[in-house]
Amino acid sequence: MDKIKKLIAKKNKSKIVSLTAYSKNIASILDNYCDIVLVGDSLGSVLYNYKSTRQVTLDMMIEHSKSVRMGVKKALMVVDMPHNTYRNPKEALKNAKKIISKTKCDAVKLEGGKKIYNSIQTLVKNKIPVMGHLGVLPQSDKTFKFKGKKKSEREKILKDAKILESAGVFSIVLECVETSLAKYVTKQINIPTIGIGASNNCDGQILVFDDLIGLNPINARFVKKYANIHKQIKKAVSNYSKDVREAQFPSKKYSY
Ligand code: KIV
Repeated sequence: MDKIKKLIAKKNKSKIVSLTAYSKNIASILDNYCDIVLVGDSLGSVLYNYKSTRQVTLDMMIEHSKSVRMGVKKALMVVDMPHNTYRNPKEALKNAKKIISKTKCDAVKLEGGKKIYNSIQTLVKNKIPVMGHLGVLPQSDKTFKFKGKKKSEREKILKDAKILESAGVFSIVLECVETSLAKYVTKQINIPTIGIGASNNCDGQILVFDDLIGLNPINARFVKKYANIHKQIKKAVSNYSKDVREAQFPSKKYSY
């Protein structure tokens, strides 16, 4: 069974584990624990301090993905198509083909619903596996407030999820979606939903790796920090600095 079929088969059977990675060393660790490793365009804010992911370019995504590819052997590797690279089917196909050929990733992810139906359908028809993304859409939303409080939002997200499924996506990320809506959408479609701030009613979960380890200074409600790497790095660098200043490093052991 190929990786995509295996992933879809997990729906209603076992939870899907996903994380983001932007480089090889981290990706090779995640590969042992994750079903999906996503090269997310969140790298724009996490690594480059951009105000939004809209500034991320295709070349940036390709270079980081080439690095991640070296670390991912088992998991499904998905790459975000950045803003303004899939405005119509022709543009989407050209850029998705470029991403796949340069990075050898397994699939691409696009943000949005009905508006990008034709682009998604074109990619799928050309045998390019596509992951959808609904709820908060960082490439186009002005605020990152969770979705699903208003009836109109609930109806739109459910409708879009069904549209994406009919366009042929193999899975949908639900970002910051109210609990009962995430549960309902997950029940209404036959492909897995992957939640980020969308409750444990989704078929799987994703987090930004740098958030999970406490390296990225984010304080969003949906982020559970599983480590405080920031503190550990500070301690290591402070010890190194002290050793160098006191001429304790490099000692004989570290010299030729
Ligand atoms: O860009 C990203 O990292 C993402 C995840 C948060 C789902 O799209």
